[in-house]
Amino acid sequence: MIKTIHQITAENMALKLKVPDTKDEIQHLAETFNEMLDRLGRAFKSQKQLFEDISHELKTPLTILKGEFEVALTKVRSADEYEAMLKSALEEINRIAKLAESLLLLARLDSKEMTPQKMDVDLNLMIKGIINNIKGLAELKGVRISFEIPTGELSLRGDENQLKTLFLNILDNAIKYTPHNGLIEVSTKRATSVANVSIKDTGIGIPGEDIGRIFDRFYRLDTSRDSIGFGLGLSIAKSIAEAHGGTIRASSEAAKGTTFIVSLPLY
Ligand SMILES: Nc1ncnc2c1ncn2[C@@H]1O[C@H](COP(=O)(O)OP(=O)(O)O)[C@@H](O)[C@H]1O
Ligand SMILES: [Mg+2]
Repeated sequence: MIKTIHQITAENMALKLKVPDTKDEIQHLAETFNEMLDRLGRAFKSQKQLFEDISHELKTPLTILKGEFEVALTKVRSADEYEAMLKSALEEINRIAKLAESLLLLARLDSKEMTPQKMDVDLNLMIKGIINNIKGLAELKGVRISFEIPTGELSLRGDENQLKTLFLNILDNAIKYTPHNGLIEVSTKRATSVANVSIKDTGIGIPGEDIGRIFDRFYRLDTSRDSIGFGLGLSIAKSIAEAHGGTIRASSEAAKGTTFIVSLPLY
């Protein structure tokens, strides 16, 4: 067993200990060790996948940038042409910056390095503020957002900035994936020891086979949708909810709409 353990490296995670059939602590130890190898193996695999996804996401905007610069440099151009080219380059740069920012946030949430800065948060007030901030965006798309502030306070201890990001990410999707004349209904409710926030839209919905994966990193549906996002918004939202001891659930009906329910523990 010791010899095998010496051979195990990050690149060699498939190795397993031979489990002796001795029905004693040594057998138990070998089994436990193999289980640990499985866990680490899965973690390594998902890190590798993450690496691949990040590289892929970086490649696209960089390829576009490179192409634009190369074309621009083939001859001397007018000031207007340079301006148009710089504007378009800036869009790609903003995209890369947004990706870096999202990845940094995820990495911090992951490493638990970013323990939520807990303060008293009035959930209804906070959500009202977020809706006020994105109303303009929704109006541009012809989507209405309703939120009736329920009576009674809903306060919890949480990191207000993180919680804002959580709800903003869900609302941003609701706007993005709801066609003209749609409606987004936001409501909050107190349950026994949690606050439930429901965000219900009349958007394009998410097919059943995808709904289990929308919280995965870089997962996004591609079918004829505007795939401007990176597919990180919901994984960030989920990490934030979990850092607060809460959960997020989604249910959806294709072409009818999607409902997200965020549950956060009250005090
Ligand atoms: N309200 C919604 N209605 C329909 N589809 C949604 C909704 N919210 C999320 N999705 C789907 O889940 C995917 C993942 O969401 P998210 O992590 O925020 O990534 P994105 O950057 O694409 O918005 C989206 O690409 C979209 O296909
Ligand atoms: Mg999103």
